[in-house]
Amino acid sequence: MSEDKEQEQDKELWQMEAYTEAVKSGLYAKKTGLVGKYDNVRRYWEDELTRQFLRAPLQKLIKRCRAQMRRLRIMDLGCGSADGFELLAGMRHRDPGLHTNEVSLLTSNVLGQYTGIDLNRDLIRQGRLLYGENPKMEFRQADFRKGLPLAAKEPSCDLYFSSFGTTSHHNDDKTAVQLLAEIAERCQDYCVVMCDWLGRYSYEWQSLWVNDLSKHRNMDYVVSYIYEKEEREQRRGELQHLNLRLMSRKEADAIVKAASQRAKVEIKPLVWFDRSTFTGRHMDTAEYNTHAQPIRQAVNSLHEANVRTDLSSLLIDYVPKPGFEFLNTYFEQLQMCWNTLVQYTQTLLLLHKESEQGFVEDPPPVPGSYPAALRDMMERMRHVVVGVGWLGIGLPRENIIEPQLGYALRYMVTNMQRGQGCAHGLVGIFEVNKHA
Ligand SMILES: C[S@@+](CC[C@H](N)C(=O)[O-])C[C@H]1O[C@@H](n2cnc3c(N)ncnc32)[C@H](O)[C@@H]1O
Repeated sequence: MSEDKEQEQDKELWQMEAYTEAVKSGLYAKKTGLVGKYDNVRRYWEDELTRQFLRAPLQKLIKRCRAQMRRLRIMDLGCGSADGFELLAGMRHRDPGLHTNEVSLLTSNVLGQYTGIDLNRDLIRQGRLLYGENPKMEFRQADFRKGLPLAAKEPSCDLYFSSFGTTSHHNDDKTAVQLLAEIAERCQDYCVVMCDWLGRYSYEWQSLWVNDLSKHRNMDYVVSYIYEKEEREQRRGELQHLNLRLMSRKEADAIVKAASQRAKVEIKPLVWFDRSTFTGRHMDTAEYNTHAQPIRQAVNSLHEANVRTDLSSLLIDYVPKPGFEFLNTYFEQLQMCWNTLVQYTQTLLLLHKESEQGFVEDPPPVPGSYPAALRDMMERMRHVVVGVGWLGIGLPRENIIEPQLGYALRYMVTNMQRGQGCAHGLVGIFEVNKHA
């Protein structure tokens, strides 16, 4: 080979190094919302629902801090690699209108300090790598079962945040009571606390349901959902297991009451909510309920750009558990509402004709006897299909109608939940007000 040609080839190989570096950085990884920790259900349902319920308490906190001429201090207990910061940073004003550009609640003007606490050194390291440059963000390795990781002279925080089942790492209620009581004792005048447990009565783990609450308090939670079915079975021996507390509202109420008594100050519940009723991660694995169907996968598909979903994959066949009539009644009604909305949308799609820019015949009327949230969402889906079904360009079904069906299902489930531990997550938001 001539010297010129060799030099040319070297240059080309050297240029290829740039791609190797890009792959190593992780930025070239194929991102999909269909699987993984940050799948579409997490981003569009779970994070958003938490934001929806936390919005009013956070707005109140921001107002109080502003009135005292200071910025907000946040502690994220079990922060992972700062997931809580990302959730909070994504909180928006409720209806900012289409014309407004600044929609965030937690702007840099508002945030004073974010302290992430985690027991896992690698996650702390990852948090520092991602946000260590930000002087307002600090990460500490500590065990929240050993009390509040706040030094004696440190000022207390305004918001104590925990997310995605983290509070269930308190296997023994005593440590949860101790942590909550310490938060209340250290509070100067006002603070907000969010606890996030695994719900005792999620359909995903129906085999673990018990009427006697002294039984099955902790579950052996296997992190098997990160793999597809075949790989899951191949790797069964290496899967991670976590011992996690299953929580009902009755038990959570008792923990909060015990902490209030110990701190001699009221820890007042502001809201309780169930998160991910038919869409928990173990619906897809059916590890703890052989009747569970892969509904999370189907909802992930609704929200995935350019992907068409077979809407029948969303239909749920709830199988009741004898002896649990209070749960069976609730889940059966919810399942019927869910399926009705999906089937109504299927009918709307069948009746719509692009060339007519409308329906070829009137869609069936919505019975007035249906629950209000279902009726509202059926009407909404009719408006969506007739409004955009004719757009043609931009894949209206995949990119507008299906995500809207996702939001409609989310709205309906949220409106029908009762905050009793009947879903993957049971979340409680509390306030401590020493001037009340
Ligand atoms: C379910 S993950 C949630 C992570 C993150 N907050 C999120 O929203 O994705 C629970 C986190 O709590 C941490 N954790 C578990 N037990 C802990 C303890 N005793 N003290 C501090 N952190 C703990 C784990 O390392 C993990 O990062």
